[in-house]
Amino acid sequence: MASYSAAAAAAPFLLLSIFLILLSPSNGGSIAVYWGQNANEGTLASTCATGKYAIVNIAFLSVFGNGQTPQLNLAGHCDPSSNTTNCTSLSSDIVSCQQQNVTVLLSIGGGAGSYFLSSAADALNVSNYLWNNFLGGNSTSRPLGAAVLDGIDFDIEQGSPQYYDLLARNLRAQSSAGKKVYLTAAPQCPFPDPLLGPALRAGLFDYVWVQFYNNPACQYNPSALFKNFRLFLSWSAWNILIPENRIFLGLPASQAAASSGFIPTSTLTSIVLPFTKISPKYGGIMLWNKYYDDQSGYSNAVKSFV
Ligand SMILES: *[C@@H]1O[C@H](CO)[C@@H](O)[C@H](O)[C@H]1NC(C)=O
Ligand SMILES: *[C@@H]1O[C@H](CO)[C@@H](O)[C@H](O)[C@H]1NC(C)=O
Ligand SMILES: *[C@@H]1O[C@H](CO)[C@@H](O)[C@H](O)[C@H]1NC(C)=O
Ligand SMILES: *[C@@H]1O[C@H](CO)[C@@H](O)[C@H](O)[C@H]1NC(C)=O
Ligand SMILES: *[C@@H]1O[C@H](CO)[C@@H](O)[C@H](O)[C@H]1NC(C)=O
Repeated sequence: MASYSAAAAAAPFLLLSIFLILLSPSNGGSIAVYWGQNANEGTLASTCATGKYAIVNIAFLSVFGNGQTPQLNLAGHCDPSSNTTNCTSLSSDIVSCQQQNVTVLLSIGGGAGSYFLSSAADALNVSNYLWNNFLGGNSTSRPLGAAVLDGIDFDIEQGSPQYYDLLARNLRAQSSAGKKVYLTAAPQCPFPDPLLGPALRAGLFDYVWVQFYNNPACQYNPSALFKNFRLFLSWSAWNILIPENRIFLGLPASQAAASSGFIPTSTLTSIVLPFTKISPKYGGIMLWNKYYDDQSGYSNAVKSFV
């Protein structure tokens, strides 16, 4: 009886929340994409000119921290160490993207490379480097030239979780006077992320795109009876358990883009998005990456549902 009356007492609240969810206009989202790891994906400017992406992550600054000289790796797009084919020509692309209201971020980390922060002083040094070379500061050797990026994406997939919260706080502090510096994070879907967890818990990021791929424990599973069960459970955990208030569904843009986790576009639009959009934190989808999106036409097929 006690549990019955508790349920009866809760019922009006449940009905009210369901009513509010149905009343609230469907949360419109946007598409974020990674660009930079395949020379055959078109230029940065042409990526922005498609009009499909609200945010482009330039991937990756794959070496930094522990006193190392930071290194940009943009695959075959340009060679940061060359006098003639270096990456400074991307400046005009970045400006053209920003003129179209596309937010352009530098993604640090990634699946390869070599990076970790060895101390609080190291985090400050890296933060100064990022500020002076990619953001509102200045340096004689800006790898992407004079254009000022909109922020930094943390795609930390190796090393240690230490000091990333400090790096984020330092970047925020440096930018406090000038234009807003966006900070975003790309954790793996198992919750909590062992590398980005502490920085995420501190609520330091504007957008979080959770990687629901290469992670069988928490992604779409085409061979299970309830194919979306793990994804929905994980999506819910991320939405409830981190303080950040814009969360994106990070997805492979084609079967070939990841070893697992690809969601067919029809499943995404008819089942997955209607569920993920219930969350008031839903921000849209993130796609890995521009090259695979070109091959599959994924964003074209889903954009009006995002
Ligand atoms: C600080 O970072 C620069 C790269 O920006 C690096 O060359 C230098 O060794 C670092 N200094 C320390 C003390 O780690
Ligand atoms: C690149 O330019 C620097 C000076 O700007 C010069 O010292 C160096 O030899 C050049 N390297 C090549 C490979 O041309
Ligand atoms: C980058 O390349 C341009 C020519 O495309 C050259 O003028 C410039 O000095 C180079 N910068 C660096 C840092 O090598
Ligand atoms: C970019 O945003 C500004 C301010 O919201 C708006 O006036 C402008 O039309 C937008 N430009 C494009 C190309 O969407
Ligand atoms: C470069 O940055 C320093 C320190 O923030 C500042 O004093 C200086 O005026 C800047 N120089 C230019 C050319 O913006």
